[in-house]
Formats: sequence, structure tokens, C-alpha cells
Amino acid sequence: MKASKDWKERIADDEETRFRAHAETLLGIARARDQGSSKKRALHTKGNIGLRARFTVLGDLPEEARVGLFREPGSYDAWVRYSNGSPSIQSDRKGDIRGIAVKVLGVTGTQIIPELAASTTQDFLLIRTPSTPVRNTDEFLALVRAAQSPALLLPRLIGAVGFGRAFAILKQGLKGLGAPIPSLASAHYYSALPIRFGEYAVRYALKPQAESPPGARTGAKTPPDLGAELRERLAKGAVSYDFQVQFFQDEARTPIEDASRDWDSPYVTLGRLDLAAPGEDHEQVVARVESLRFDPWHGLTEFRPLGDMMRARKVAYLVSAEERKGASEPTAMD
Ligand code: HEM
Repeated sequence: MKASKDWKERIADDEETRFRAHAETLLGIARARDQGSSKKRALHTKGNIGLRARFTVLGDLPEEARVGLFREPGSYDAWVRYSNGSPSIQSDRKGDIRGIAVKVLGVTGTQIIPELAASTTQDFLLIRTPSTPVRNTDEFLALVRAAQSPALLLPRLIGAVGFGRAFAILKQGLKGLGAPIPSLASAHYYSALPIRFGEYAVRYALKPQAESPPGARTGAKTPPDLGAELRERLAKGAVSYDFQVQFFQDEARTPIEDASRDWDSPYVTLGRLDLAAPGEDHEQVVARVESLRFDPWHGLTEFRPLGDMMRARKVAYLVSAEERKGASEPTAMD
């Protein structure tokens, strides 16, 4: 594997206007859902569970991985929120995108967003599939809008992206959505989009550790309450994931701007995420995590998000979090 610094973003002239409009569309969906101003996230609205965690950076990392938070071995406090992707609150049994958001605390360095210069957080946001059914933000929004009305989904999607792309998006989308999730603890999660990694670029992932989780339910079906299932497991033993990255190699193998393509590049393990078992203050932890703003743009300049869909997220997360009056960046596990 040859990590390459030769990655490029393609920035469209009109994207600022388009991304603002997309953020407003998502806000409109949230406001319509909540019949007024919204106190909930525009997407990933239902939190399955919120937890404390520990994020560990391993030693002896390859030279190209010794960047920002990964420069030295270390151990950090973190907040974790698991979510269903839909803007609607619905049963966990219903097929959905599943997300995990991790906010690592106590990270020093230069923050990407100047207004957050004093903050010391590094966020990682992941979903269950290594790529998305859509190629770019316009397709993403077309899909979210069309999905608001299941009966009209197909004609609306065809109207927005054309016949061929509509069928391709639905085929890939249904594969991801339809897959059952027997436990949050045994699921594999992916950024599905790239970030800078110093001079390099990577996609990142959380791979459940083989030995975890012990005991507890198995089986192929999605349980009715994914958060409760994870709590049960945490009461019986540790639940951990490896934090891994895939390095950009070239546009053919590891495209920066096409979110529908999985990257063909080996995974390198850089760290570990260990979930903390819920204690007596679990309800407060859940409420605290719900209040937080997880955002791929909250982090160090070395890890700046890359590509059209990532740049669109810079506006969309801010607009959604401002509407729901999300908390300011935490400095400690308070
Ligand atoms: C394809 C890669 C993506 C991943 C891995 C991803 C992941 C996530 C996750 C895990 C959350 C929940 C965060 C939390 O728990 O607070 C979230 C929320 C959200 N996502 Fe994404 N997302 C992706 C793409 C997008 C795109 C393209 C948009 C829109 C342009 C978008 C808009 C949002 C919004 C508005 C929220 C709610 C933000 C808030 O109120 O805090 N996402 N996403």
C-alpha cells in the first residue's frame, strides 16, 4: 500500500448557495416534523443511547499516521452517541441508517473553525456502511426529500436525479437499510467520506473487537430497543472497537468526491474506543450527550473534512444545531 499526498477536491462555484439551500431544506423537514421550531436534530433524530468512553491512541504508529491527535500514544475521555439516521422517531426494528458519533476531549492543536479556537474536541461521525447510495450532496438531498413520502419516493427521485441513478440509489440504499443490526456493539461503522490526515487523506472506521462483546443475546434480528440491548451487554463485559483508517492512494481506488464508491485500500489500526458501562447517573449522561453538537468540522485542521458532501455538512450541522440550541463544546466530562 502506498499512501499518497496527491489527492484533490473539486469545488463547484455555486456550492455555497446550494449548500445553504440544502441546510434550509433539512431544517424545513425538522420544523414540519415538530410543528414549529425544532428542539431535535434534523437527521439522526433518535438517540439509541449516550455513553461515556475512553479513546486510546496506540504506540508505534506508521510515520504517515503520526498526525494531530495520533502524534503520540495517549488516552482521552470521550462522549458517544448512537443514533438512527431518519428524521422520524420510529421503532428500532424498522430498517434505518445507524450512526455513531464520538467526541474526544482534551485534544490540543489548531481547530478548523476559528470561532472554536478555544475548544479542545475532535469529533468522529460514522454510519454502518462504508459508502453511501448517493454520489454527492445533491443526490443526498434528493433522497432525503423523496423519502419524506414513501408512496412518492420513486417518482420524486426519478424526477430529481433521472431514471438510472434513481434505481441505482434505491438498490444500494435498500441493501444498507435492510440489513438487520443484532447489536450496536457488534456493528462495523465507517466515515464513508474522507478527511485530511496531515498531508495525506483517509477514510476512518470503527471495527468491533473480536473478543467483545461477551455473553448477551445473539441472533440475526434487530432487537426492539438497541440502546437497552447495548446496556445489557455493557453490564456483562467490555465493549470496544478498533479505530482504523484507510489512506488515499489514487482517484481510481480511493475517490475523494464520489461517496457511492467503497475505498480499495487496507485498514490500519491507530487506536481503540472503549465504552464505559452506564452508572447511576445514566439518565444525566444520556441528556448531556443529546445536548451536544457532534460535527465532522469540530476538530483539528490536520483532519479537515474533504469533498462535496463533507463541505455541505459544515453548513447543515451548524444550522441544525443552532435551531435546537445545541450545547457549546465541552471541556471536561461534566
Ligand atoms: C455520508 C456521510 C455521513 C455520515 C457518516 C453522517 C453521520 C451522522 C451522524 C452519526 C449523525 C448524528 C450525530 C449526533 O449523534 O449528534 C449525523 C447527524 C446529522 N447529519 Fe450526517 N452524516 C453523513 C452525511 C450527511 C450529509 C451529506 C448531510 C447534509 C448535507 C448530513 C446532515 C446531518 C444533520 C443536519 C445532522 C444533525 C446535526 C445536529 O443537529 O447536530 N449528514 N450525521
